[in-house]
Amino acid sequence: MKQLRSVKGTHDILPNEIYKWKQLETIVSQACEQFGYHEIRNPIFEETGLFSRSVGEETDIVTKEMYSWEDIDGKHLTLRPELTASVTRAFIQHNLGNQSPIQRLYYSGPLFRRERPQKGRQRQFHQFGVEAFGSNNPEQDTEIIAIAWRILSQCELEKETILNLNSIGSQECRNKYRTALKDYIQPYIKDFSQTSQHRFETNPLRILDTKSEKEQTILKEAPKISDYHTRNDSSHFDSLIGFLKDISIPFSINHKLVRGLDYYTGTVFEFNSGNLGAQDALLGGGRYNGLVETLGGKPTPGIGFAAGIERFLIAMEQSKLDTKESNLDIYFVCLGEKALSSVLEISQKLRGIGLKVISDTLRRSMKSQLREANKLEAKYALMIGENEINDGNVIFKDLSKGIQKTILQSDIINFFEELTN
Ligand code: HAM
Repeated sequence: MKQLRSVKGTHDILPNEIYKWKQLETIVSQACEQFGYHEIRNPIFEETGLFSRSVGEETDIVTKEMYSWEDIDGKHLTLRPELTASVTRAFIQHNLGNQSPIQRLYYSGPLFRRERPQKGRQRQFHQFGVEAFGSNNPEQDTEIIAIAWRILSQCELEKETILNLNSIGSQECRNKYRTALKDYIQPYIKDFSQTSQHRFETNPLRILDTKSEKEQTILKEAPKISDYHTRNDSSHFDSLIGFLKDISIPFSINHKLVRGLDYYTGTVFEFNSGNLGAQDALLGGGRYNGLVETLGGKPTPGIGFAAGIERFLIAMEQSKLDTKESNLDIYFVCLGEKALSSVLEISQKLRGIGLKVISDTLRRSMKSQLREANKLEAKYALMIGENEINDGNVIFKDLSKGIQKTILQSDIINFFEELTN
């Protein structure tokens, strides 16, 4: 029979990789909680309209990357391709804005985009991220970037990443800039790719994102969005820059950074890593001051970021983080069926005082059980055979020191409590 395999672009996360995942998840939750953020968990699928209205009808995500279907009752549903939309929907649905003037939220979980798989790009991938609703001040932008910086530093990635920063301004600024950019590109439009020609009509700012060298050369002399910033846009961005300097977070201003989701206004940023190849965006985010209103809530400013967990782990391959979980405390060797109930009972008691215990379930020889104990790098082995059952004893062996002694079964908990204190 043909062997079934995981679907293209999806991956199993195997036990030998999980420890790194857990470490990263711990770093993320500790950093977010240090900044007063609370975790939110949203459903994996939502109504399709949530994403088309927020991410944008004409974006790559909505036009070609979503896993969508019509449900039996005729509802159009989609596996979430990103989480800002879901978090914002939940913010509105549960009136979180009424609970406090600022809502600071963080999350992590799987996302789905039907992209062409390559290193660092999958069809099911995972993100962690943060969203803050309620403040339109530049210190809020600073806080969001500072969380990203703290996580990158904890992962020892701060030296190899660059923070690219831009402001795509207010609606008013973008309307004027869109016209100026189109006027500039118009004479060269025949030299642009089909994708860029299409974007010229639907979302000209996205042309600035082009990977084509030819198009990039033409765009070198293009007008800059900062020339169209309103007074508020400029003073917000200048304050942010000042605050980032105050807290020593290095950045590079990149006038061409526009990001591929339609809800952004004002500040946008990305942390890019030199260790990732073509998919070098580790983390991206920005302000979305109109999103709550677009989705039917009261006008509320918002800003956040999300980062690809797989990309973080690729970038962290060189880092000094541990790759292994702490060792097993005890491997319990069981010799003969009669010993089984004592072994099971004592193992339970030992787990009760917090020890990690495996007892053999294959009824193997003493030699192969001890070999397994060494392979698993257990600190200690305990052994019970027929003699020990008759005498009420258990044999204790310290596997690194090679010391062995006999202990009364009734003393075993006291013995380990003293040993491990
Ligand atoms: P995004 O730029 O689409 O933004 O994704 C954020 C990060 O997710 C990327 O920088 C990348 O590390 C990772 N990522 C995206 N697509 C893939 C993929 N196919 N495979 C592996 N990793 C991927 C957002 O999703 C926004 N919701 C971020 C945000 C939050 N903006 C404001 N708040």
